[in-house]
Amino acid sequence: MCGIVGFIGDHQAAPILLDGLSKLEYRGYDSAGLAVRNGTDPAEVVKTVGRLKNLAEKTDDGKALPGCCGIGHTRWATHGEPSQVNAHPHVSGNCTGSGSGKVESEVVGVHNGIIENYKELKEKLIRNGYTFYSDTDTEVIIKLVDYYYKKYIQDPIDAIMKTMVRVRGSYAIELMFKDHPGEIWAARKGSPMIIGVSDGETYIASDVPAILKYTRKVYYIGDLQCAKITAGDVHFYDLNGDEVTIEPTEIKWDAESAEKGGYEHFMIKEIHEQPKAVEDTLASVIKDGAIDLSECGLSDEQIKDISAITIVACGSAWHVGMTLQYAIEDLTRLPVRVELASEFRYRNPILDPRSLVIVISQSGETADTLEALRLAKSHGIKTLAIVNVVGSTIAREADNVFYTLAGPEIAVATTKAYSAQLAAGYTIAVHFGFVRGTIDREQYDAYIADLNTIPAKIQKILEDKERLQWFAAKFAHIRDAFFIGRGIDYSTCLEGSLKMKEISYIHSEAYAAGELKHGTISLIEDQTLVIGVLTQNKLYEKTVSNMVECKSRGAYLMGIASYGKYEVEDHCNFVTYVPSIDPHFSASLAVVPLQLLGYYISIARGLDADKPRNLAKSVTVE
Ligand code: F6R
Repeated sequence: MCGIVGFIGDHQAAPILLDGLSKLEYRGYDSAGLAVRNGTDPAEVVKTVGRLKNLAEKTDDGKALPGCCGIGHTRWATHGEPSQVNAHPHVSGNCTGSGSGKVESEVVGVHNGIIENYKELKEKLIRNGYTFYSDTDTEVIIKLVDYYYKKYIQDPIDAIMKTMVRVRGSYAIELMFKDHPGEIWAARKGSPMIIGVSDGETYIASDVPAILKYTRKVYYIGDLQCAKITAGDVHFYDLNGDEVTIEPTEIKWDAESAEKGGYEHFMIKEIHEQPKAVEDTLASVIKDGAIDLSECGLSDEQIKDISAITIVACGSAWHVGMTLQYAIEDLTRLPVRVELASEFRYRNPILDPRSLVIVISQSGETADTLEALRLAKSHGIKTLAIVNVVGSTIAREADNVFYTLAGPEIAVATTKAYSAQLAAGYTIAVHFGFVRGTIDREQYDAYIADLNTIPAKIQKILEDKERLQWFAAKFAHIRDAFFIGRGIDYSTCLEGSLKMKEISYIHSEAYAAGELKHGTISLIEDQTLVIGVLTQNKLYEKTVSNMVECKSRGAYLMGIASYGKYEVEDHCNFVTYVPSIDPHFSASLAVVPLQLLGYYISIARGLDADKPRNLAKSVTVE
């Protein structure tokens, strides 16, 4: 939610900031802004509403903003509507017009996150003579820094530390002080921020893709820490103002993976990257035909001792949990609960001390998932995080981490990270089952052999995408869609339905096929699209019957079935087939046509599949 960038070095800052923001636009895209300083001159601010291209146009691709030091922001509105005056950067002093122009104020800054006590702080600042121009919580934090800066000894560290002690909520902030040219100051709590250093230049960003082109040497600034950033150097301080040492991390992602590489959208590129994402994730733990989870820190003794598993996540990651519930329970006979992080964190969950809490998150920054993790840890429960982004907050705070190797995922709607999360979860299911003795050696070998076929099978589905493209164009006008299935197929429906609605804005619902007649079937009308997922051999005929019940009420039926189940065509109007696989792993295949369907319907409706309205990639607010 919101992306921030910063640069200081020998080059012109504005083009680098615009380039960085273009890699972060997935985090928010309702307005954007830059503040750039030329030497000791005050900073100049430019802000625009709408997509980043408006800011690029207004600044002549950055050329109209000379200077080698600057900060930038792309916004996903929380406090205050998307408007120029609410766009960042914000300033500590008076604001002229809608906020663009030379900054005469002491402090100018950008912020990602939410300041929970902004109202009380705003009142305090108004009492102290400050005037507010925007509806944002960000303006409060910038003015609070200014307040402490002026009240005490005109020292940025002191002012920032006092502000950090006073504010509640989450933030990654970047600040420039008028009296401190050649410096950018940054601080964070809860919201992500990285600092990259190369020869004589320093970069700041919310996420790795924004700086990958320039450097791979990255520092992860800790919670409640602040940083003084100068050209080619960075110093970190804790809440007492004492300097702390942070070791840099080497980023392994290649720069091309954060580019579209000839595809029209990141989403379709990432759909095509799924075979590699799954293959790399599986290969990271399957060695010489055996699963080795030692790098995740789980010993066989610990696995044998586990009494139950709770999986906690949001959105698509929660759908992964739903699929894994079926697979893990069946293969390990351990009871598995799957919880929405936003619900789990406010309940008073009953957790057995010997249970394991697995949190799943692509970004590793989702606020609710992070708080759920902290809650589990506060109960003394062992935690394992399945995370894609190396060094993210969830990865750092969990007891154990299983990194998915999907590479950077840019499209807002997840595809390859979802598939990599499933792959990671399957290896946990098979390994736990074997260690706990609920599957024997022969079954173990067979499951591993089947897992290794997933990448090639996804590739095969992708080769037949034209039929789905045709079907999507035919159904792009629909108002409603229903996805039905049983068991693991139901969990695949949850994801297929979300993929369709979030990027095409078509109302869709996923239903356990047997539940439909308990109410929802009344919504079926002539030509309503009903999509049935039919990969579970034991349940397949029952789902087909439920589909036929819909057809009798006028529905148009689409089926997703395994190769060989050609009799489905006797009932469905349109069928797409996926290769056969052990039913525990079928979600990895059945989801691919549903991702393609969602994508192609969005394109046929003329929408931007990468940046659906009202959404942001990384949800760092609750
Ligand atoms: C949907 C989607 C979201 C995320 C959810 C959790 O396509 O991407 O539902 O799955 O916001 O995000 P992470 O995995 O980053 O915790």
